[in-house]
Amino acid sequence: MRQIGVQNVKLSEYEMSIAAHLVDPLTMQITWHDIAGLDEVITELKDTVILPIQKRHLFEGSRLLQPPKGVLLYGPPGCGKTLIAKATAKEAGFRFINLQPSTLTDKWYGESQKLAAAVFSLAIKLQPSVIFIDEIDSFLRNRSSSDHEATAMMKAQFMSLWDGLETDFNCQVIIMGATNRPQDLDTAILRRMPTRFHINQPNVKQRKDILKLILENENVESAVDFGEIAKQTDGFSGSDLREMCRDAALLCVRDFVHQESPVEDFIRPIGQEDMKKAIEKMKKSKTAGVQEAFMHVPLD
Ligand SMILES: Nc1ncnc2c1ncn2[C@@H]1O[C@H](COP(=O)(O)OP(=O)(O)OP(=O)(O)O)[C@@H](O)[C@H]1O
Ligand SMILES: [Mg+2]
Repeated sequence: MRQIGVQNVKLSEYEMSIAAHLVDPLTMQITWHDIAGLDEVITELKDTVILPIQKRHLFEGSRLLQPPKGVLLYGPPGCGKTLIAKATAKEAGFRFINLQPSTLTDKWYGESQKLAAAVFSLAIKLQPSVIFIDEIDSFLRNRSSSDHEATAMMKAQFMSLWDGLETDFNCQVIIMGATNRPQDLDTAILRRMPTRFHINQPNVKQRKDILKLILENENVESAVDFGEIAKQTDGFSGSDLREMCRDAALLCVRDFVHQESPVEDFIRPIGQEDMKKAIEKMKKSKTAGVQEAFMHVPLD
């Protein structure tokens, strides 16, 4: 707590156990510069979420221009949702509570609710703060009658605590969730997250930007044509692209290790040919993944 500059705050036992999931913004590594091709999303996020908190005095009179209490990032896997959430907290200088759903599940009846309450009270004591729930669908999915009683109560309580934030105009706590299954979210939760950002699969231009960023500090032949690679990687996510580049770089390392007479003491730069091979390999593993997934679908 001292490390993140919090002093003279008394915490309850439950708040302490939540505080273990605090992340110090100074130790967070991800900045806007680590995210490529999502400039539009970032600009909008800055304008609608970060600015109203940082320049609160400008918005004091307006009830409409208050920062949103809930922000949802949704889209296919590996395209930068978690990156964006981390960068937001870092760049805005908010305290960041990385809430894992398992933190709230306690085997003792009633404890879960106290922990849920502690999340909110801690966030308020530390404001401005972000409560980040990654894979939020696993936590606040559609409520069903088969839910365990304690789970159902925790969800209901979570929502009413959330409403508490909404009525308090001075409160600078944002709940940020990320999911790749927004359709599984409880509609009551969706309503509480009116500010939504769709982080989609990167298009050609975005892929080119991501490639440039990934290979920024690598030894790459100047003849490598990023535009061409971007064209050939339709359907690749940001994390696919990173994996692919790693494969290409490994090809160079492999050549170095297996050279006949180790005369040269340097690893050759990554060339277009390496990229081509890596793309093929990634494509193969992607289609193999799909076939495998289908194999588990029952035929009847
Ligand atoms: N736009 C991007 N710019 C740079 N790197 C990216 C981008 N998108 C993805 N990556 C790379 O892919 C990795 C995975 O991204 P991230 O964890 O943000 O995905 P996600 O959208 O949260 O996926 P999931 O839904 O599976 O959690 C990142 O660590 C980064 O290396
Ligand atoms: Mg993620």
